Parts: sequence; structure tokens; C-alpha cells
Amino acid sequence: MQPLPQGFRYHPGYLDRERQQALVESIRQIVAEAPLYIPVMPRTGKPMSVRMTNCGVLGWMTDKAGGYRYQATHPATGMPWPPIPDELLRIWDDLADYAKPPEACLINFYDDAASMGLHQDSDEADLAAPVVSLSLGATCLFRIGGPARGDSTRSFKLSSGDAVVLGGEGRLCFHGVDRIYPGTSTLLKQGGRINLTLRRVNR
Ligand code: SIN
Ligand code: FE2
Repeated sequence: MQPLPQGFRYHPGYLDRERQQALVESIRQIVAEAPLYIPVMPRTGKPMSVRMTNCGVLGWMTDKAGGYRYQATHPATGMPWPPIPDELLRIWDDLADYAKPPEACLINFYDDAASMGLHQDSDEADLAAPVVSLSLGATCLFRIGGPARGDSTRSFKLSSGDAVVLGGEGRLCFHGVDRIYPGTSTLLKQGGRINLTLRRVNR
């Protein structure tokens, strides 16, 4: 089997059920203030299958005209993103091993049919900081490759409460979500999966 990249960390069962539930409640409040939007691919204008929102001083965005970027305000409301909840800042402190706090937390919502193509997280100026990723709700099939698009990949399941860190030599590894396994979690009443990615943007 393809070895996992250096700097890639997998923490199965990192969050217990109670902490998962508390995070879902925090996310519910964030979404009430900063509604989910459908991200659209640059140039082609093709909508992605996930819905997104953010918290933090910066949020990740993509639309047809502006492409991939970070911005300080919500695309529909024009308001600043809600702050990153303290619990997530504590998780960053625990997992990131990085002196500066995260600036962005991207919140991805996958319905049972959603997926995410293989991509690199490379829109951040600070590539020394890791990406910390948390899974809530339905299990997914996560795919990870190397730093070049053609590198071989391997896949494994991520379940509710699992944490993944892309750091060091693994920071720019291609990754994506092949599929969701419907009905594999009772955490989210409507089903589906939430992924949270904490990121440092500026050096
Ligand atoms: C992402 O790469 O933005 C999402 C990864 C995931 O959903 O686990
Ligand atoms: Fe990513």
C-alpha cells in the first residue's frame, strides 16, 4: 500500500461524542449568521457539490469571476465571518504545533451525494502552518496522494470525530473526498457530513 506522506497525521476518534455534539451546535449558530453558499469553480462556473461557509477573520471562497481566494466577509451578507469558536482554537493548539492561531475555518457540508475532487490546499501564504481537519457526521472515503497531481494515492475512511493534520512535507499533498457513506452516523439529524478545516493564511 502507498505509504502516508510525511507530516500527515491521522487521529481516529479524536473527538468524543459530547465534543462532536457541542461543535455541531456551534456550527449551527455560525450557519444562522453566515448562511451556506454553493461554491462555483473558477472559469467553468461549475458548482461544487458541497455547500460552504466559514468562521474566522478570513474565509475561503470561490466563484466564477474571482476564483479561489480568502476574504474577510460573507459573499451574500457582506458581513464579517463569525469568530472561530474557542473549542476549535483549543483543538488547533493541541494538534497544529504552530505558534500563530488559525485565521480561517472552512465549513464544508456534504449531502449523501456530495464529493470533493483531488486538490491541494495552496491558497495560503503561510505554508509552514499545517491544515487541521475535523470530520463530523457520516463516514466518508478520503483520498490522499503526494505533492504532485500524478502521484499515486490511497484512500481510507474518515468517521465522525476523526482528525487529520496536513503538515510538514504533507502540507501540499493532493487530497479529496471520493464519497459519503449515507446513514453511518446519528450525529447530524439531517444526515450528511460536515468537515471543518482550520488554516493559517498569512505569515
Ligand atoms: C477539504 O479538503 O477541503 C475537505 C476535506 C474533507 O472533507 O475531509
Ligand atoms: Fe482541502
